[in-house]
Amino acid sequence: MTVNPRSPSESTTVLAHWMGIADANSNRDIHGGTIMKLVDEAAGVASVRHSRRRTVTASIDRMSFLVPIKIGQLVTFTATVNAAWRTSMEVGVRVEAEDPRSGEVLHASTAYLTFVALDDAGRPTAVPPIEPRTLDEQRRMQEAEIRRRHRLAEREAIEHGRKAFTLMAD
Ligand SMILES: CC(C)(COP(=O)(O)OP(=O)(O)OC[C@H]1O[C@@H](n2cnc3c(N)ncnc32)[C@H](O)[C@@H]1OP(=O)(O)O)[C@@H](O)C(=O)NCCC(=O)NCCS
Repeated sequence: MTVNPRSPSESTTVLAHWMGIADANSNRDIHGGTIMKLVDEAAGVASVRHSRRRTVTASIDRMSFLVPIKIGQLVTFTATVNAAWRTSMEVGVRVEAEDPRSGEVLHASTAYLTFVALDDAGRPTAVPPIEPRTLDEQRRMQEAEIRRRHRLAEREAIEHGRKAFTLMAD
C-alpha cells in the first residue's frame, strides 16, 4: 500500500511546563531527568502524529544541556519529525526556557531521538515518507541522515571489535 508523504510540520508538537519545586534540586536547578522525560513525551507525540501508530522510543541519540533551567521558568518542548526511514523516525526537540516576568527566552537544550512505529501485534511497521517543504526542513533531514549513518557505523564497528575480542578469548 502506498502512503502519502507527510511534511515535518504536520507532526510538530509543543508541550509547556511551568517548573516548580518538585522538578528541582537543592540549587533550584531543574533535574536533567525531568527535562528528558518531557522531551521524550513531546517527541513521542510527534512520532505518533507522523505515523498515526503506537510508537516506542528506540534510542535517545543525542541530548545537550546548554544552560541550567530554574524554578519558575516556563519551559516549552517543540518536537518535529526530521526524517523517516522504513519503520523508524528521527524526532528533534528544541527546549526553550522563558522567564515569564522579564520575557527573556533562552535556548536550553536540543535533543534527537529515534522512535519506531509498531503494528497492533507490536511489530515494527512501515511509516509514511517525509517530505520536507522548507530549506530548514531539508537541512534537518540531511543532518538526521548523517546522525543515522554515524549511529549505524558505530554499531557495526563495535560489533566487529567484539568479534575480534571473542576470537582472542577462545
Ligand atoms: C525498538 C524496537 C521495536 C526495535 O525492534 P527490532 O526487533 O530491533 O526491530 P528491527 O531490527 O526490525 O528494526 C526496526 C527499526 O528500528 C530501528 N532500531 C532498532 N534498534 C534501534 C536502536 N537501538 N536505535 C535506533 N534505531 C533502532 C532499526 O534501525 C529499524 O529502523 P528502519 O526500519 O527504519 O530501518 C525494540 O528494540 C523494542 O521494542 N525496544 C524497546 C522499546 C522501549 O521499551 N522503549 C521505551 C518505552 S517507549
